[in-house]
Amino acid sequence: MSPVLDPVPAANLPLAALAPGKCILFGEHSVVHGGPELVAAIDLYVQVGARAPGSTGATTAVAPNPYLRRATERFWSGRPPLDLTITSRVPRSAGLGSSAALCAATVALMGAATGGLSRPELARRAFEVERGAQGVGSPGDTSSVVAGGLVALNAEVGEELWSVSDGGREWSVRRVADPGWTWVVGYTRVPRSTADAVRAVATRLGRPDGPDLLRELRRVALEGIRAVGQEDRTGVGRWLGENHALLREIGVSHPRLEALIEAVRPSAVGAKLTGAGAGGSMLALPQTGKEVETARRIASAGGVPYVVRVEPRGAHLVGSLATAGSLPGDDPDDGAVG
Ligand code: MEV
Repeated sequence: MSPVLDPVPAANLPLAALAPGKCILFGEHSVVHGGPELVAAIDLYVQVGARAPGSTGATTAVAPNPYLRRATERFWSGRPPLDLTITSRVPRSAGLGSSAALCAATVALMGAATGGLSRPELARRAFEVERGAQGVGSPGDTSSVVAGGLVALNAEVGEELWSVSDGGREWSVRRVADPGWTWVVGYTRVPRSTADAVRAVATRLGRPDGPDLLRELRRVALEGIRAVGQEDRTGVGRWLGENHALLREIGVSHPRLEALIEAVRPSAVGAKLTGAGAGGSMLALPQTGKEVETARRIASAGGVPYVVRVEPRGAHLVGSLATAGSLPGDDPDDGAVG
């Protein structure tokens, strides 16, 4: 069996789970309406630790976070309280999957402590929690951080991992081979709400030219997925740019995104916003050997750069809290570039 399909095993508290962040290569927003999408899990992590309260003398607090509250209601109901400790290297509200990773790691812990669960079930539960808390959205982010590697939604490529439904629409999730490239992400420092952006796009797509735009978004995402499959860097760069132009057209770019994308032009093969947009982050495929230059260009233009690679493993348990002090990537030479 492929390692990505390994189940989350049964385990006793105290426990910790890691889940990676994500960035969307192609197809954000249109995926909500059933379009194809390509998402990469990235090597920035969220870690959640769980123990019975009282084991450290800490008090029990009601989860104030909507994702934790939802996860507790759905998958920990009627059980003794839990003390959860969250450590994150993924900036929040930045389009890099912090909420998906939080949902996946929390649900993995709860599943492990209640007898274990399969990975497709983890993907479905993580989506249920994220979607329940956000009210809108697709399972692209949660499936990516559960599966690790590259996944495509709604595209007839690669091995099918699972499908996820919201009771109306169904999304298929497939494995796409990772060409092993290094990517550079730039956070604009402008936080934004995914739910607000998704709702604004739904309104925009309701205008007379909406169906044409949606068709174009789908076509460009499919071309991009194909170019990644062929390891065609030039093609990928071109489709990143075309996807960005369409995202701008549907109203989710932002002056800070445009500035960062412009700043990397001399050293990148292509760039686009990644995630919900309206702030958040951009993604660049650097020219070979120009990863650090691309990161420096983002920093000089006022963004927060991260040099990232695709994380192959997805959400997983990391043993007891005793070993859970530092996250992969805490080495200052790794990931964030100042
Ligand atoms: C957010 O990371 C991606 C969107 O397509 C929303 C979603 O798919 O849930 C904008």
